[in-house]
Amino acid sequence: MKRVLFHPCCGQDVARMAKLLSDEFDHLEASDVSPYSVQVLREELGFVATRERTHQFAPELASGRTDLHLVRNPSTLRPVGSGRILDGTCSVRPGAPKSATLRAFDSVEALRMVDRISVFVFRRDGPTEGEGSSGIPFLGNTLFQRIVAKLEVGGLVVTDGAGMNCDADQSELWRAPRTDHPIGRKFTAFGREFRCERVLGKRSPQTLVWRADPTR
Ligand SMILES: C[S@@+](CC[C@H](N)C(=O)[O-])C[C@H]1O[C@@H](n2cnc3c(N)ncnc32)[C@H](O)[C@@H]1O
Repeated sequence: MKRVLFHPCCGQDVARMAKLLSDEFDHLEASDVSPYSVQVLREELGFVATRERTHQFAPELASGRTDLHLVRNPSTLRPVGSGRILDGTCSVRPGAPKSATLRAFDSVEALRMVDRISVFVFRRDGPTEGEGSSGIPFLGNTLFQRIVAKLEVGGLVVTDGAGMNCDADQSELWRAPRTDHPIGRKFTAFGREFRCERVLGKRSPQTLVWRADPTR
């Protein structure tokens, strides 16, 4: 079975993360409302689309947001309920093509469409982290529970804590990136035990790799 890397609100970061995590997945599921992501996939990962279709959906407002779908939409009254799905291949490493799907629309809808996740990546998406921040609380209770429900046993969560700052069972996801020695830290949430096993890159806050095993 293909191991899926799901990267919502990926922006141009998708190429870097796909390369850094290339040993961990076979199929890339990227999502971003911006058409720029298609360009990044083409230029930096050699993405070639073999199929393209339009997707219409009823936008869902995620908890904690009232304008989830409006970041790139000039109208504050009409949430965007359509976008493109591009299926194809990319070359994360020379000579080793992987299949890839870009869902160029809201990432909450993209999550709904993904059945199984081996690696979940979400970073640098908070109010202070650049123009176009989705503000979608993917690490908050509502959406993180959905992620964990799809995350395979022993799957990975890769994040810098992306804009979160509250108490929750999973708050280590945003606290540990600001500590000196995050490796080995653990927490339990939604029936899984998460253990930090790797730091990716040198940026602050750190991007941490957490492995999710069933609780004992
Ligand atoms: C602050 S940037 C972070 C990008 C990337 N994660 C990184 O680390 O560079 C936020 C990204 O979220 C995208 N975005 C905003 N709202 C979105 C939504 N509702 N669904 C999907 N992507 C969205 C923007 O287009 C932008 O690329």
